[in-house]
Amino acid sequence: MSQAFDVVVIGGGPGGYIAAIRAAQLGFKVACAESNSYDDPKGEPRLGGTCLNVGCIPSKALLASSEEFEKINHHAADHGIKVGAVSIDSKKMIARKDDIVTKMTGGIQYLFRKNKITLLKGHASFEGKGADGYQIKIDGKDKETVTAKNVIIATGSKARHLPGITVDNVLICDNEGALKFDSAPKKLGVIGAGVIGLELGSVWRRLGAEVTVLEAMPSFLAACDVGIAKEAQKLFAKQGLSINTGVKIGDVKADKKGVVVNYTDSAGKAAKLECDRLIVSVGRVPNTDKLGLDKIGLKVDERGFIPIDDHTCATAAPGVYAVGDVVRGPMLAHKAEDEGVLVAEVIAGQKPHIDYNCIPWVIYTDPEIAWVGKTEQALKEAGVAYKAGQFPFAANGRALGMGRADGFIKVLADAKTDEILGVHIIGANASDLIAEAAVAMEFKAAAEDIARICHAHPSLSEVMREAALATDSRALNM
Ligand code: NAI
Repeated sequence: MSQAFDVVVIGGGPGGYIAAIRAAQLGFKVACAESNSYDDPKGEPRLGGTCLNVGCIPSKALLASSEEFEKINHHAADHGIKVGAVSIDSKKMIARKDDIVTKMTGGIQYLFRKNKITLLKGHASFEGKGADGYQIKIDGKDKETVTAKNVIIATGSKARHLPGITVDNVLICDNEGALKFDSAPKKLGVIGAGVIGLELGSVWRRLGAEVTVLEAMPSFLAACDVGIAKEAQKLFAKQGLSINTGVKIGDVKADKKGVVVNYTDSAGKAAKLECDRLIVSVGRVPNTDKLGLDKIGLKVDERGFIPIDDHTCATAAPGVYAVGDVVRGPMLAHKAEDEGVLVAEVIAGQKPHIDYNCIPWVIYTDPEIAWVGKTEQALKEAGVAYKAGQFPFAANGRALGMGRADGFIKVLADAKTDEILGVHIIGANASDLIAEAAVAMEFKAAAEDIARICHAHPSLSEVMREAALATDSRALNM
């Protein structure tokens, strides 16, 4: 007889494994199917999805290693520290990253055992629906069909590739290949100045690559607050990243000598980029094919996303939910996690809620960029009367002590009610500092609330308070 579950989660990434844990906490009998083994030496499916295996976690490990290298190489002298010749052992750096990934994926297996979640090893797809619930075929080393009263689709996304550009993950790479270069290329080309392009471009630039980024949009970091994007472009250019916006990519050739990208620049002139390796980071597409969605009457939209109810993540098939990168909204691990928790609680009859306006965004460049809520340009477009307060890290003692004076925090608040509408940071530790803004916005705080809260001195968090004070033209240290 086939195994029967209350909840089967398809996909073991941040959306899926968190949904499985929350559902198990709520007393359901839960299974989670995963087929991707990534680079597992035994070919066993690995939990954690793109984020843990070939995304957020490994890229942050490499960012940290390359930051240390850059600090020792270029900033130790500012502190009076003398160092001799510094070199990087890229193989060791990659091995350290792989160790972190292995530890983390093993951690999720432990959590599954602790929460009595069954791991179904193989590709899961719908076969149909019977009296006992949905029938799901698991296609792995062992083949079986399980039944589930509820199903959560959390199959994530894959890198979007450009027509005519073959990604071999050696010379022309997406996020997967770009995380395992055995040495820094002399010349690195990047197509797409988005999150992945900038983060991985930064890693290899710090380790010695000459990096050229080709971006189709006329403006840089169009999703960011325009003031932050301008500051970022200035700082990245100073670091040596060459960023070309408004380009049109033509044909791309790769051979033993390297890669040649023909493109048209923003002035319409034909141009050529010769590089040793190329990263293609032009967005991601949802993994919604081969799921047998048609067998349960579900259709994807024109971009491959599964339509859902905005509040509950329920699909048109009763008892089937979808979360994370396969549905609308930002392709962010923490958004997927929150939707995973939400769906488990919806299945349990609870009434959870996600405020999508309060989801923070982070780009892990140096300095980091982070924001939550509306940008200044979005408020202008919507005709919202707002006030802006900005404060630079250069006027903060802790930032100076750390040698991290670049950047600023901008707080945007409603002109009448003072409610915080958006907070934008470019500067050291922005990924952590943004949490205060997300909490404040979830509680519908006013800029005055942040301004009245005691912030430890000396700390980078004082910049947030000063920016909040600046919305009322009363920053104290400027
Ligand atoms: P992205 O959407 O961040 O950026 C893609 C960039 O490529 C855009 O600027 C776009 O205008 C440009 N582009 C598109 N087509 C192009 C073309 N033909 N020629 C030149 N440029 C072109 O996508 P990215 O960087 O690939 O990241 C994928 C996803 O992964 C994103 O949704 C992101 O949210 C997520 N991610 C998040 C991270 C974080 O939260 N720190 C880190 C890495 C990825």
